[in-house]
Amino acid sequence: MATDQNNQHSSAIDPKTLAGRRAVVTGGTLGMGRAIVQALTDRGAEVMYTGRSDRRLAEAQAALDTPLAHPVRSDATDAGAITALRDQVADRLGGIDYLFVNQGIAEFQTLEEVTEESWDRIFDVNAKGAFFTVQRLAPLMAEGGSIVFTTVSNDQIFPGLSAYSGAKEAVAAFAKVLAAELLPRRIRVNAIALGFILTPTMGVAELTDEQRAEFIEQGNAFTPMGRGGTVEEVAAAALYLAVEATFTTGVELPVDGGFGQGLGA
Ligand SMILES: NC(=O)c1ccc[n+]([C@@H]2O[C@H](COP(=O)([O-])OP(=O)(O)OC[C@H]3O[C@@H](n4cnc5c(N)ncnc54)[C@H](OP(=O)(O)O)[C@@H]3O)[C@@H](O)[C@H]2O)c1
Repeated sequence: MATDQNNQHSSAIDPKTLAGRRAVVTGGTLGMGRAIVQALTDRGAEVMYTGRSDRRLAEAQAALDTPLAHPVRSDATDAGAITALRDQVADRLGGIDYLFVNQGIAEFQTLEEVTEESWDRIFDVNAKGAFFTVQRLAPLMAEGGSIVFTTVSNDQIFPGLSAYSGAKEAVAAFAKVLAAELLPRRIRVNAIALGFILTPTMGVAELTDEQRAEFIEQGNAFTPMGRGGTVEEVAAAALYLAVEATFTTGVELPVDGGFGQGLGA
């Protein structure tokens, strides 16, 4: 087993572990979504992944550089587009073993600053988009398959993120309720609850480079482990829940360097 400078363990990847498995990753063009696509295709799974921007889809496809990854332009806030995604997935993959519902955006706004429009924007992407993605794609899921939502470590609050935190709490609730509803089909439903993760956007819309640097510094200070998580660490946790945790359903797994666990001094 090799160890890198951050003391994170890595081991050789078996390119055939997931050969023949089919996956969908929403919001797969950037950040941790792309890392999940990469981890799946590295192990031989065939993956359809979404985003709204043609440019980002093309950039992701070039970076992934594998015939196992298939980009699809699809806006998770549009239930009709999710239905069209379902049809494309049915045509190309025939079914789904693993569904990662990962798209999301945050906007920093105080109580006074939240508008009806910004509220709808946040809830549409994070909550409505997550729910209807599962509603429309679940019929394609194989018995014994698994769904992983992306939520946020809400045990520690962050001022200015009320609408976002509320929308992600809704997603946390979906993980539990849908885990119960999908039990008869042996489909497990779980979530990864993230702390500060080093992605191009840090999950926050329209951060300037300066704000991003400041946010990273805050993340390092607030995280008991003293650093932001990597997208590879997130992908490892997501694949663990999806593939290996075969006796686990209805849980949120914190992936947050101890942020939500009250480990501060
Ligand atoms: N980074 C963090 O520290 C952090 C912390 C807690 C939770 N999270 C959550 O983790 C998830 C991934 O975050 P990230 O930092 O990796 O985000 P990111 O780098 O900004 O990537 C977000 C992905 O979602 C896609 N997306 C956004 N709106 C969409 C829509 N309406 N329909 C379809 N795709 C859409 C984006 O592509 P397009 O823009 O092209 O559509 C992109 O592929 C999000 O749910 C986020 O809320 C992140």
